[in-house]
Amino acid sequence: MNTRHLSTSNEDLLLAAHLLQQGGLVAFPTETVYGLGACATNAKAVQKIFEAKGRPADNPLIVHVSCWEDVSKVCCNIPSVARRLAEKFWPGPLTMLLPKQFVIPDITTAGLSTVGVRCPSNEIARKLIQLTGIPIAAPSANRSGRPSPTEFTHLVQDLEGRVDALIDGGSCQVGVESTVLDVTVSPPRLLRPGGVSLNALQAVLGDVQVDDAVLSELSPDAKVRSPGMKYRHYAPSAPVIILRGSVKDAAAFVARKAKKGLRCAVLCYQEEISFFQKASQCLSYGSQNDAQSLNHNLFSALRTMDTWNPDVIYARCPEGNSETMAVENRLKRAAGFRILSLQSPCIVGLTGGSGAGKTYVLNALRRRGAFTLDADELYHDLLNNNLLLKKELFQRFPSCITEAGIDRSILSQIVFNDDQALHDLNTITHKHILSTIRERFIQAGRDGFSIVVLDAPTLFESGFYLECHYLIAVIAPEHIRLQRIVDRDGISQEKALLRIRHQHSNDFFYQNCDFIVENDGFNQVEPQLDLIWNTLGGNQNE
Ligand code: TXA
Ligand code: MG
Repeated sequence: MNTRHLSTSNEDLLLAAHLLQQGGLVAFPTETVYGLGACATNAKAVQKIFEAKGRPADNPLIVHVSCWEDVSKVCCNIPSVARRLAEKFWPGPLTMLLPKQFVIPDITTAGLSTVGVRCPSNEIARKLIQLTGIPIAAPSANRSGRPSPTEFTHLVQDLEGRVDALIDGGSCQVGVESTVLDVTVSPPRLLRPGGVSLNALQAVLGDVQVDDAVLSELSPDAKVRSPGMKYRHYAPSAPVIILRGSVKDAAAFVARKAKKGLRCAVLCYQEEISFFQKASQCLSYGSQNDAQSLNHNLFSALRTMDTWNPDVIYARCPEGNSETMAVENRLKRAAGFRILSLQSPCIVGLTGGSGAGKTYVLNALRRRGAFTLDADELYHDLLNNNLLLKKELFQRFPSCITEAGIDRSILSQIVFNDDQALHDLNTITHKHILSTIRERFIQAGRDGFSIVVLDAPTLFESGFYLECHYLIAVIAPEHIRLQRIVDRDGISQEKALLRIRHQHSNDFFYQNCDFIVENDGFNQVEPQLDLIWNTLGGNQNE
């Protein structure tokens, strides 16, 4: 599809309005983020929005009007509180959920009986709605899952060739999306923090309920009031991990990772930039005390960091402050709620090939006072006991269920020569395993453990290595490993060799790990562990 690039001239806006009236898609600026618009009453046109964005069909769209009077054309039974809020915050970044009228087709609201309406303060947006003469349904104009677009170049990156026109309205002033408030319930419920702060809403309404999904991860079976909250959102290509704790600890952590060759990008506050500059590529998204600057720069910064192609983005995120709630909400979602506390406990990832002696080291660290977890045992445990994991596996791999439960050997056979199946299996299992590991480690910290150790064969593949303070690898010469595998698992030399050749090399471990334990029969393991234990800050027999 040929995508026109339009200016904000009268002539171009008339053309854009014409395209919308004809059932086309036009991306346009608003004060929050760019929106991807279609005629809200035209089901076919709205369907094209879902296709162009790759948006799940159960995620409803916001309908944009140019004045309060137009709300009654799309909504009914409008409570008086809506008018009070509109008087105070419209035109502006507040979306209100109201009962919908039949003129709005089901596809626009994903089948819900309410519709989100907002009147943007951006004059180009309002002029476009007026010229079109019909309310415009518009989600943020990003490809689904990506950070919302706040600059014209972001539109081009995401939508060139997929929509009829893109209007260049410069940089969006607010930078995060509108606040979504359900005013059909009493007291009104905040579903998404945004351009209008919670404090500002409370000043008008007194009481506002904040939905659980705003700042915490929804459990997979929780009731979802705003479907958008279910999805991983705002995410750049690289994994995002939030570093919680002092800037000094964060800088030391990143420096250690960078020293091991990890390409770390750091998203931090203006005040912190000098701490990180030595260690890695670093970008500030504004002053810690200036919510407006953080809002304005967040999405743009995430997109810029994507162009650096880092292994990981470590982010500093404001927490527990209602003024910066919108940024906290977006960043935590971008991170998929991966939050690493830099204070105790110290998280250690233990790795190494088959037959190298990982289990020995794990037990030795436990004897010294560490809390230890074996990821493989945990996986077994979850396969037997975690209903959600079982359900997801059953949906993707129906044949792996037997009367006794999930059959791991059937699963291994299915994924043995099928990369897509293996990828799907890992996506399902890693998610459950990692969230359980995080929970157990947090609990171990509460129980007073200062060092926690994870023994995971897939430490690198699962991405958990990015959340470990330290990595320890156990290595041994190939002939020793071979003999141990043959003795332990009763398989042939050839099979054992094949297994070893499929695993990481010793060079890989030397390159990527902070400590190497040589378990070769010559070097004593215990003295090596004493040294590591002291460096980690562990006390003898805690
Ligand atoms: O600032 C904004 O709101 C931007 C600009 C373009 O106006 N739009 C925007 O739309 O952010 P979108 O689709 O990216 O986000 C809309 C959010 C989603 O989380 C959706 O689930 C929620 O609002 N939403 C919309 N209608 C809803 C409804 N009837 N019930 C519950 N949630 C709704
Ligand atoms: Mg969006």
